[in-house]
Amino acid sequence: MLVNDKHLTTIWYEEKIDKVKIIDQRLIPFELKIIELNTVDEVCYAIKEMQVRGAPLIGVTAAYGMYIASKENANIEFLENASKRINATRPTAVNLSWALSEVMNKIADLKVEQTSKKILEIANQIRQDDIDNCKKIGEYGYELIKKIYEIKNKPINILTHCNAGWLATVDWGTALAPVFFAHKKNIPLHVWVDETRPRNQGFSLTSWELINEKIPNSLIVDNVGGHLMQQNKIDICITGTDRTSSNGDVCNKIGTYLKALAAYDNNIPFYVSAPISSIDFKIENGVRDIPIEERDSKEVSHITGLDENNKLKTVKIVPEGSYCANFAFDVTPAKYITKLITEKGIIGANYKSISSLK
Ligand code: MRU
Repeated sequence: MLVNDKHLTTIWYEEKIDKVKIIDQRLIPFELKIIELNTVDEVCYAIKEMQVRGAPLIGVTAAYGMYIASKENANIEFLENASKRINATRPTAVNLSWALSEVMNKIADLKVEQTSKKILEIANQIRQDDIDNCKKIGEYGYELIKKIYEIKNKPINILTHCNAGWLATVDWGTALAPVFFAHKKNIPLHVWVDETRPRNQGFSLTSWELINEKIPNSLIVDNVGGHLMQQNKIDICITGTDRTSSNGDVCNKIGTYLKALAAYDNNIPFYVSAPISSIDFKIENGVRDIPIEERDSKEVSHITGLDENNKLKTVKIVPEGSYCANFAFDVTPAKYITKLITEKGIIGANYKSISSLK
């Protein structure tokens, strides 16, 4: 999507220099910094420290991480070890293990000298598939928004949580893909952007994406959604997912569950954009079995922004000695989800519909 009117993606391979490049997302919206990934250590750091984040993008980065590993040593033991290390960086987004399995399964029978080239092909394909699948999600989701617009004939108010825009994928995004499509098709829209404490990905990433695409939006702190729903100021909620179980429970950024409850109480449709790479067909009960990442207490106790000299500054906002629990995700039970928007169509959040995607 656009940044300062130029098209950009979150990760790409530059053939001329044989390098993988990413945007360091920790600096957005204040700085657009492109960096190279050169070693497995750098790949692990990038995922763990969230230079790249968002389930689909984590998967694509992991695949390129395997290419980077294979340039160092294409031996199968070395690659297995690299895959384990990359897989251990973050626990919740299933795209990570999915992408690593895609790579490892496809190289199992190859000779060492064929491996590196093949991994690059696989990684490039995973990247391209991500773009195509997100675009399809956008097309299906656009139809939904269009229907609401045809009934209501007024600007459509959409609530989203965290960042499931193009920065969470390679391009287009998941939850925001329908929004980008609808905007391109001239449907009048307004997006309510949840702050999404503690890392504020709504404020820093989603709003930056929407501003760059010139889509009207308002930033709200995380607790505002319920009030807006009661006041008829939200027509539809669309979020992303980091892992969806085979029964349709949706794990997404912390706070999603409370938004879904409020939407249910107010009869507001709650859709989840879910690429098939985010579905964990092996888990039958998401509430019980999806692993929830717990992150550093400092992400809650401190906050970063620009100071009066336009320099990035981190300040502490809790009393000395506080311990802050930092759960990164929660799980919304399937019964609160209107439907899932996938690249194969809009389906029920239930076992039967999800099984048909296999
Ligand atoms: O912790 P993150 O930033 O990697 O979390 C991912 C998210 O931004 C969201 O949970 C998102 O809705 C799912 S990824 C499309």
